[in-house]
Amino acid sequence: MTTIAPPDALTIGYLTGQHFAWIASMPQFNQCSGLKDFKRLIERKNVIGFVARVGPTPVGFGAYELTGDVHAGLGQVVVRELVIAPESRRRGHGAMTLWTLVRLKLDPGRPYLSLTVDERNLDAQRWLRACGVKAVNVARGYFGDRDGITFQLRREF
Ligand SMILES: CC(C)(COP(=O)(O)OP(=O)(O)OC[C@H]1O[C@@H](n2cnc3c(N)ncnc32)[C@H](O)[C@@H]1OP(=O)(O)O)[C@@H](O)C(=O)NCCC(=O)NCCS
Repeated sequence: MTTIAPPDALTIGYLTGQHFAWIASMPQFNQCSGLKDFKRLIERKNVIGFVARVGPTPVGFGAYELTGDVHAGLGQVVVRELVIAPESRRRGHGAMTLWTLVRLKLDPGRPYLSLTVDERNLDAQRWLRACGVKAVNVARGYFGDRDGITFQLRREF
C-alpha cells in the first residue's frame, strides 16, 4: 500500500506583531507604501489584517474592509492589501488566498468582493484576470497621480 501525505492547505489567520518584521521586508505592496502605512490601515474601523499560511509557514498577508449595506444584500469585502511573499509566488497561493476569502467572508448579505489595483500594476491585473475576476471600474486618482482599476466578483448563493 502507498501512503501519501496530503498537501498542506492554505489557511487565513490573524496577524500578530510577530509578522511585522517580515511584512516590512516585502519589496512591493498593492495599496500601502510600507509597514507603517499598513499598520495605519489595519487600525481603521472595519479593517481586518490577515496572514495566509501554508502549514505553519506564512506565505502572504493582507487586509480587507467590510463595507456596504448587508440588509440590502449589497455588503462587500474590499481587499485593501494583498501580498504574496516573492519566494512563494506562482504557486497558486494568491489565488487560494482570494478564494479562501470568498469562501469564508462572503455570504448572502455580503456577496461582493472587490480589489483596486494601480493602473501600472499589470502583473496584478493579469493575476486577477487569470483568477476569473473582471475589471468593473476605473477609480480616477485612487493612487494619487495614478488611476486604479477596480476588479469585482459576486458570489452566487
Ligand atoms: C499579484 C500576486 C498577489 C499574485 O500572487 P501569486 O501567488 O504569485 O499568484 P498565483 O500563483 O495565484 O497565480 C495564478 C495565476 O495568475 C497569473 N499570474 C500570477 N502572477 C502573474 C504575473 N506576475 N504575471 C502574469 N500572470 C500572473 C498566472 O496565470 C498564474 O498561473 P500560473 O502561475 O500557473 O501561470 C503577487 O504577485 C503579489 O503579491 N504581488 C505584489 C503585490 C501586489 O501587486 N498585490 C496586488 C494584489 S491585487
